[in-house]
Amino acid sequence: MQVTPKIKVVRRLRWADPTLSWGFVPTMGYLHAGHLSLVERARADNDRVAVSIYVNPTQFAPTEDLSTYPRNMERDLALLREVGVDLVFTPDNDVMYPPGFQTSVSVNDVSQPLEGASRPTHFAGVTVVVAKLFNIMQPTRAYFGQKDAQQVIVLQRMVRDLNFNLDLVVCPTGREPDGLAMSSRNVHLSPEQRSAATVLSRCLREAVVMLHAGERDGNALRALMRDTIVAEPLATIDYVSVADPETLQEVEQVTDRALLSLAVFFGRIRLIDNMLWLTPTN
Ligand code: PAJ
Repeated sequence: MQVTPKIKVVRRLRWADPTLSWGFVPTMGYLHAGHLSLVERARADNDRVAVSIYVNPTQFAPTEDLSTYPRNMERDLALLREVGVDLVFTPDNDVMYPPGFQTSVSVNDVSQPLEGASRPTHFAGVTVVVAKLFNIMQPTRAYFGQKDAQQVIVLQRMVRDLNFNLDLVVCPTGREPDGLAMSSRNVHLSPEQRSAATVLSRCLREAVVMLHAGERDGNALRALMRDTIVAEPLATIDYVSVADPETLQEVEQVTDRALLSLAVFFGRIRLIDNMLWLTPTN
């Protein structure tokens, strides 16, 4: 496994044999089984696998948790070595954002609601860094988690709009046995917050059960999710959403599909989760 902070080295390895397919998994490190499931999928689909580990400052607002974002490069590299990764790109800020950097990449409409409403500068940071990583790595396929549903929708739009020559593959959300979606940020939860955090997946599952039972009213579904979260004293709702999975606009009446998503604070820690509901006949 080659580990390098240098773009030149990435390009040399990537193009050493142009006939080989490359799968690419961008990450911010502090890897867990959710990240590793993406790497395994990339391993299965491609001749070679590359992972990037870079905590991208431009996707954090000044008030957010950039400085406390968990990091452990040694452990991450050991995990990636075990799974069988060929190349790990670990750039510094001066490689990604050298002096004079001034270009932006923004995907307008689908970046606005949900995460975009709570974190107005977040997706501009994600799109610029992912566009750079795609251009540096030039992978055949790139792998992202459904855990960050809006990120996937924004990046799918960017890939189409800017003609990136790659397939974007979406992988299912990895969960702890009690349903909590795996996240690097879970490590910051106190034991009490950790057990309270199961309310996220529980309320999503309840909403899915209601959809299966025939409930189609967006407000009723949002109210059900809110009530479940409000009953958990350690949880504070940021948003609860039942939206169209393409436009991310809130729906009045669910037709054949809906993205149920939510963001909830436990103290200062903000967690997100979602479930995509499709009618069983789809
Ligand atoms: P990060 O949060 O490290 O996540 C890296 C990738 O792992 C993303 O595609 C994310 O959706 C996926 N992932 C995280 N938790 C997951 C889980 N429980 N199950 C499945 N996949 C999961 O997302 C980012 O980094 C950054 O925004 C990045 C795309 C790297 C740009 O900086």
